[in-house]
Amino acid sequence: MNNFKKAVEFLKDANSIAVLTGAGISAESGVPTFRGRGGLWRKYRAEELATPEAFKQDPVLVWKFYDYRRQLISKVQPNKAHEILAKWEKGLKNLTIVTQNIDGLHQKSGSKNVIELHGNIWEVRCIKENKIFKYEENPIKEFPPRCPDCGSIIRPNVVWFGESLNPEILSLSFSLFENSDIALVIGTSSVVYPAAHLPLLTKKSGGKIIEINIEETSLTGLSDIFLKGKASEILKGIDSLI
Ligand code: APR
Repeated sequence: MNNFKKAVEFLKDANSIAVLTGAGISAESGVPTFRGRGGLWRKYRAEELATPEAFKQDPVLVWKFYDYRRQLISKVQPNKAHEILAKWEKGLKNLTIVTQNIDGLHQKSGSKNVIELHGNIWEVRCIKENKIFKYEENPIKEFPPRCPDCGSIIRPNVVWFGESLNPEILSLSFSLFENSDIALVIGTSSVVYPAAHLPLLTKKSGGKIIEINIEETSLTGLSDIFLKGKASEILKGIDSLI
């Protein structure tokens, strides 16, 4: 039986499907990935920009980097891959997305059960009051932007290199993958932890891993099914058989 048919069978038989997405699912919307060809990390010294140290040293530079990404993301739309996952949330049993992306495109395409592991580019946090709120000024006029209540600097509510993830979000994601029959892993290089650990929890508890990527990754050797190709094309292929 070919891999597509096997994937369809796994997904239809599953009682719970945990989806892990990475930058690759938004690539076809025009959002650059980090490590692939033309990736963001290629152009920017991103490891030096998306860090608490960089922000402390030069908040304006870090905000200019995020303003560039916010302006880019504000111009793109979800692609077919996002849309099919939103459709499957209604059509398949207990499908939840845990995304590493901060672009909000899953929600924009209609997905409701979305856990944002690394935060959201349209949210900010006041560094004095630690309050999180939506900040959608685009483009940003004043650098660095300030909290409307206390006037202190605000930061993007995203997880930076060297920072730990929100513990509640992490334990929710861990238990989701532990208790799912299928981990559907789409468009991630699987090199950043703890996200990359999640599908292994499904495997450990007897579930299966289906991986979709344009190239093999460090997870591929452990995947039960590896479907090589663009996320929208592969998902369209599966969707046509479901
Ligand atoms: N369809 C499917 N996969 C794709 C596509 C596509 N159209 N285009 C690229 N890919 C794959 C690449 O082959 C690569 O494996 O998507 C993956 C993107 O990998 P990264 O750029 O490393 O992005 P990601 O895995 O999401 O990075 C994880 O690292 O920098 C941090 O916080 C950042 O959330 C990010 C985390």
